[in-house]
Amino acid sequence: MARERTLSIIKPDGVKKNVIGKIIAMFEEKGLTVAAAKLVQLTKGEAEGFYAVHKARPFFGELTGFMQSGPVMVMVLEGEDAIAKNRELMGATDPAKAAAGTIRKLFSASIGENTVHGSDAQETAKTEIAWFFAESELFTR
Ligand code: CMP
Repeated sequence: MARERTLSIIKPDGVKKNVIGKIIAMFEEKGLTVAAAKLVQLTKGEAEGFYAVHKARPFFGELTGFMQSGPVMVMVLEGEDAIAKNRELMGATDPAKAAAGTIRKLFSASIGENTVHGSDAQETAKTEIAWFFAESELFTR
């Protein structure tokens, strides 16, 4: 197991439902630590930039519109195998297919409003963290 960093976003639906604390508690219980965190509201342009990899997808407009519809909590999680642990905790992209006890099973209404985003690999984690945070804003504990 390697010590890793990963980007986690609590999406507008999670912030609106007031479950930021419950979600962070799940990360902490799994042994991950919060190395950085902030609430931000993305512009449409920023949402499009962050999700540029999905530009050609039919849901791109819906996705970027939703992501800029309200504040999101962006966080860097750190720990052993942080990328896989975070994805396991999130559950499947479609909450209908997510396993019991996962964040998306517990809190998400639909595949579009699926409460959390998490980096899917080491390279994307690096890029996504740098999108929101300077190295000086990250705190390893
Ligand atoms: P996320 O992990 O943030 O990465 C891309 C997002 O696109 C994904 O979560 C979903 O919220 C969204 N997405 C994927 N498939 C669909 C779909 N069929 N309709 C709407 N949104 C989708």
